[in-house]
Amino acid sequence: MTVNRRSVLIGLTALLEARPAFAEMTVRAPKEPWDSVKFTLRDGDNVWPGVAVRVPGAPGKPSYIYAASTICPHQGCQFEFEADYQAVGAKIGKELTNPVFHCHCHMSTYDPANAGQVIHGPAPRPPFRFEFREEGDALVITGVVT
Ligand code: FES
Repeated sequence: MTVNRRSVLIGLTALLEARPAFAEMTVRAPKEPWDSVKFTLRDGDNVWPGVAVRVPGAPGKPSYIYAASTICPHQGCQFEFEADYQAVGAKIGKELTNPVFHCHCHMSTYDPANAGQVIHGPAPRPPFRFEFREEGDALVITGVVT
């Protein structure tokens, strides 16, 4: 039997669909525009790396937090939050206007300011998103939205 990243990703997807909820975990809430906080949600033997990002507001629209699993939907590599979006833009040949999630395996790039929309590369969809609530300076991660 061959086990590759794609089969692991399919297995993780099936596991997520089968589980209604995760144990909660608390991390520091990102407060400043484009501040980010990495975390790892552990649920039994399962490990879910993620990142929470403070997306800046616009006139009449407050800033908000977007939290995503950093498991790339393409083939399961772990992607990074890249504050240096101009460097990523130069690498993928696109003019980017804000920090992005970027996977170094096959260059999939996602826009955290637009619900993780795929803006470059072979990824078939945005990354899974974490549910959470803010409690003062804390961010309580409560689950994953698939
Ligand atoms: S695994 Fe991320 S782009 Fe292929």
